[in-house]
Amino acid sequence: MDQIRVRGGQRLRGTLPISGAKNAALPLMAAALLSDRPVRLDHVPDLADIASMTNLLRQHGVRIERDDTSSMTLDAGEIVSTTAPYDLVRKMRASVLVLGPLLARFGKATVSLPGGCAIGNRPVDLHLKGLADLGAQVEIGGGYVHARAPEGGRLRGGRVSFPFVSVGATENLMMAAALAMGETTLINAAREPEIVDLARLLAAMGVVIEGAGTDTVHIQGRERLGGAEHRVLPDRIETGTYAMAVAIAGGDVVLQGADGGLIEAVIDTLVRAGVGVETVDEGLRVTRGVDPVIGVDMMTEPYPGFPTDLQAQYMALMTVASGASMITETIFENRFMHVPELGRMGANITVHQASALVRGVPGLTGAPVMATDLRASVSLVLAGLAAGGETAISRVYHLDRGYERLVEKLAACGADIDRVAAARAAAEE
Ligand code: EPZ
Repeated sequence: MDQIRVRGGQRLRGTLPISGAKNAALPLMAAALLSDRPVRLDHVPDLADIASMTNLLRQHGVRIERDDTSSMTLDAGEIVSTTAPYDLVRKMRASVLVLGPLLARFGKATVSLPGGCAIGNRPVDLHLKGLADLGAQVEIGGGYVHARAPEGGRLRGGRVSFPFVSVGATENLMMAAALAMGETTLINAAREPEIVDLARLLAAMGVVIEGAGTDTVHIQGRERLGGAEHRVLPDRIETGTYAMAVAIAGGDVVLQGADGGLIEAVIDTLVRAGVGVETVDEGLRVTRGVDPVIGVDMMTEPYPGFPTDLQAQYMALMTVASGASMITETIFENRFMHVPELGRMGANITVHQASALVRGVPGLTGAPVMATDLRASVSLVLAGLAAGGETAISRVYHLDRGYERLVEKLAACGADIDRVAAARAAAEE
């Protein structure tokens, strides 16, 4: 398997472009299933997860063309299957997002249950309960969800109240409600910017939708939806990741195309830690001088709180802070897999239940490391930027799922980083 190797100690300088958001693009692609007219998406990142969603949708019969590197047209005019098979769903949990649109448009859908995941149990019960609230008959058998719309083949608008916030369940229900009869109200909906982006596309396709970005969303279902064109919003998690890269390595970088308004909680925390963050014409400018960052406590929360998808990266930063910080993970039950690997690089971290006490150390040392999910992997890249000597990160396929041209972007800002092909990495081990 390929490795990424980082030799730490270089400050970062220059301009780093921010890609379209993976977690916005995936539901937007699924939304194309709602119409027989083409949907064009711009600013779609080139990532393994996008390729997985492309494969799944093609299997349903969606014709997908990528006109250039970042534009994509999806045409769901001729759907050949309403089944999402295990082999494709198990590769990426976001595949479950085809359930709502397939059921709403075709009156039936069979979707494999995604199964467990490295960061937690991650059930989809809220998705299923919400669809049942719209009149669907939902059964589980053979590892699959079998869902059917009521007599007549159309879901009925209704009131769906989520017991806690789920991004994916909110998205699935918004898409299902878009073709349901009458009005649907989602209560305790997720407020993430990706929800707002999906609402914008649905509105462009003809849905009347109000309240996206608040905890109550109203959706007036339509019998048929049209095509649309839409630009994917900038990736706030990629933005936060590179802001923390600059914070840990030191330097002065403009994150081009970034929208600071999408990560206010993150910026507040970084500024309190002594990192310079300012909005400039091109995006966000992030700076850190010679003084180390200061330890600042942080707790993950649903939006607009500090995102769980930046917890691992923030922890990497805090390992070299002056002083200690307490980091609490409230969204996923098993999202500290980076802790032992950071420990192998010299970090001082004690975990107690959902909290990690990080005592800053003067420096980290490079080591061979690996991680079991996307954000944990990138936290090790960040640690490598600050560590003495070389850090070799294995299982690079995790990074390929969510960071477009990671090595090129960091190298262009002066990081000493490269990707080593599997054969060479094995020969050198
Ligand atoms: C989305 O996952 C993101 N993925 C995740 O990003 C992100 O970590 C997560 O939201 C939280 O912000 C995509 O957008 C594709 P949830 P999602 O439903 O929708 C529990 C990354 O690194 N839950 O908001 O699956 C669940 O187990 C990824 O890019 C249920 O119990 O997350 C979790 O504890 C990882 N039952 C919590 O809710 C359900 O039916 C929040 O999950 C649904 C969720």
